Amino acid sequence: MVSGSHSPLVDNLGRRLRDLRISVIDRCNFRCTYCMPKTVFGRDYPFLPRADLLSFEEIARIAGIFAGLGVNKIRLTGGEPLLRRHLDNLVTQLAAIPGVELTLTSNGSLLPEMAARLAAAGLRRVTVSLDALDDAIFRRMNDVDFPVAEVLRGIEAAAAAGLAPLKINMVVKRGTNDDQIVPLAEHFRGSGHILRFIEYMDVGSHNGWRMDEVLPSAEVIARIQQRFPLEPIGANYPGEVAERWRYTDGAGEIGVISSVTQAFCRDCTRIRLSTDGRLYTCLFATTGHDLRALLREGANDAEIAAFIAALWHARGDRYSEIRHAATPVTRKVEMSYIGG
Ligand code: GTP
Ligand code: 5AD
Ligand code: SF4
Ligand code: SF4
Repeated sequence: MVSGSHSPLVDNLGRRLRDLRISVIDRCNFRCTYCMPKTVFGRDYPFLPRADLLSFEEIARIAGIFAGLGVNKIRLTGGEPLLRRHLDNLVTQLAAIPGVELTLTSNGSLLPEMAARLAAAGLRRVTVSLDALDDAIFRRMNDVDFPVAEVLRGIEAAAAAGLAPLKINMVVKRGTNDDQIVPLAEHFRGSGHILRFIEYMDVGSHNGWRMDEVLPSAEVIARIQQRFPLEPIGANYPGEVAERWRYTDGAGEIGVISSVTQAFCRDCTRIRLSTDGRLYTCLFATTGHDLRALLREGANDAEIAAFIAALWHARGDRYSEIRHAATPVTRKVEMSYIGG
C-alpha cells in the first residue's frame, strides 16, 4: 500500500492516472518501416545493454506502486515483448497484483510457442499487430521477410490458449497497405476477434512520416461500409482509445483509432515506462523521468510514489491535439523504446 495518496491523482488538465504501459525490451525481430526502419535500426543500432534493463523484480515493484496510485490496467509492450527471456515469470508477478487487468501487445511471431505458457502464467488478453493479409505486402512491411501465415498461427494459438477474444491492430498507410483494409475486415468478421485500424502516426524521429500517407479513419469506415454495413456503438469505458463499430448482420465489431484526425488527449490516462526505467507522460514526449536511478539509490515505496505523483500533477501533455502547432524539429522518443 502506498501512503499519502488520499485523493485521486489528477494531472494539470484534470485527467486521472489509469493505465501503465511497460516496455520490457527495446529489441524486435521485425523492422516495420513505420517503427524501426532498417536504415536506422540496422545491426549496429545501439540497443540497451542488459544492465540498463529493469529487472522483473524492479518492474513488479513499480507496478505495485502504480496500482496503489490508481492504475487499473497494465500493458506489456516492447519492441517485441516476447523476446524478453522468461517473460512468463514477469506475467506471474504482475497477474498477482489485485485490481489490475494485465494485457500485452505483440507482433504475434512467437505466440505459437509461447501463448499457452503466458496464459498459464495468468495473462488474460493479448493484442496482435497485423498490417496485411497478403503475404507479399506483409513481408515487405515487416521488412524481415516474415510470413503472414506464422502470425495467423500465433493468433490461433492465443485463442486456443484462452486469450480470446483478441484485438488485432492494423496500422494503415495510404499507398502501402490500404488495399488490405477490406480483406482483413472480411477475414476477421465472425471470428470474435476485434480488428482495429490505426491512423499512421508521427511517432519517433526516424519513420519519415508524411500527412499524405495517413488514411483518415472516416475513410476506413466508408470503405468497409460499402461491403459490410456498419453502425457505431458506444465506448466500453470513458477515454477508450478506439471508436467502436459493429456489423449490422451480427458478425462482430471493429474499431478505429484516430490519433491524427481526432486526437483523444483530453481523456488520456496513460503513462509509459521505458525498458530502462524512465517514465514518459506522453507518447510524443522528448524526455523521460529516471525512475530507475531513484530505485537503485534505495528509495522506499512512499518516496517513489511521491515522485510519480509529482510528475503526474505537473503533466499537461496533449501532443496529438496541438500537433500542427508543435515544432517538428524536436527529437521525439522512439515508440520501440517506450512501447506503443
Ligand atoms: P484497449 O483498451 O485494450 O483497447 O487498449 P488501447 O485502446 O490502449 O489499445 P492499444 O494499447 O492496443 O493501442 C493501440 C494503438 O493506439 C497504439 O499502438 C497506438 O498506435 C495508439 N495509441 C494508444 N495509446 C495512445 C496514446 O496515448 N496516444 C496516441 N497518440 N496513440 C495511442
Ligand atoms: N503509427 C501508429 N501506430 C504505430 N505503432 C508503431 N508505430 C506506429 C506509428 N507510426 C503501433 C502499432 C503496433 C504497435 C506496437 O505500435 O499499433 O501494432
Ligand atoms: Fe516491432 Fe511492433 Fe515496431 Fe513492428 S511495430 S518493428 S513489430 S515493435
Ligand atoms: Fe496521451 Fe500524448 Fe497520446 Fe495525447 S498524444 S493521447 S497526451 S499519449
